[in-house]
Amino acid sequence: MIYDYPKYYEAAFSFRDIAAETAFIAHAIDRYSAVPVERVLEIACGPAPHAGELIRRGYAYTGMDINSTMLEYAGIAWKHLKPEPTFFKANMVRFDSRFKADFVFVMLGSLYLNSIEEMQSHFDSVASALTPGGLYFLDCCIQFSDMMVPVHSNRVVTGDRDISIQSAFDIRLIDPARQIYEEIWRVDVDDNGKHHTFEMVEHNKAIYPQEFLLFINQHPAFDFVGWWEDWDFNRPITVGCNPTRPLALIRRV
Ligand SMILES: C[S@@+](CC[C@H](N)C(=O)[O-])C[C@H]1O[C@@H](n2cnc3c(N)ncnc32)[C@H](O)[C@@H]1O
Repeated sequence: MIYDYPKYYEAAFSFRDIAAETAFIAHAIDRYSAVPVERVLEIACGPAPHAGELIRRGYAYTGMDINSTMLEYAGIAWKHLKPEPTFFKANMVRFDSRFKADFVFVMLGSLYLNSIEEMQSHFDSVASALTPGGLYFLDCCIQFSDMMVPVHSNRVVTGDRDISIQSAFDIRLIDPARQIYEEIWRVDVDDNGKHHTFEMVEHNKAIYPQEFLLFINQHPAFDFVGWWEDWDFNRPITVGCNPTRPLALIRRV
């Protein structure tokens, strides 16, 4: 699977503006955190693309992921930073955070929860890792748009060093009662003339906006702060808009 080849994963997602995304995160902390933030914790960090920018801004960084290869790769890539980032292996569904954090975040829709029970235990785990008053930021984890619309079959071509990647997603609803979607992610890699193909099949429960609001409003450890579209605080998500990159913020009570 592509998560065992972190440099290909990085190339596939190299279209992101990591500095701008990190600036948005820092802005969210300045505006909405009720506590000063020293340590941030990224859920499903992968190669930890935001670690460099966050540490440059003065935060201590901890990343957690289920994949040992990703964790090893991130540890080596960011070893030179001060303070050196720390990483640990865990399943986001239920984890004992060895490191408490003042801010928790998950990027790029990487919230892999397959039932309401897993959702409950994930948010309980985050609540116990997070300092009261601290924020949990979720990038693209709430399903605002209709997954069945073919816009989800997209194609990204990106060149990174001598690697070029074509990535295509196909998503279909396989269990409506449990809101489970099957996502087939196919990645074709041309690494200096060597070709590799990866196909990943993931099953994931969609979290719909009203469900998320209800869940957070009923969770004793969190308050809903707000949600915005596409890295822009001037674009709060309101009735009638159709966000493609929803960013949500909740606060630990
Ligand atoms: C799309 S990548 C996101 C990586 C990184 N956050 C980024 O912004 O590029 C998703 C990551 O989630 C990790 N992952 C998948 N299921 C997980 C789980 N149950 N618990 C923790 N990490 C998980 C994968 O190993 C992979 O590194």
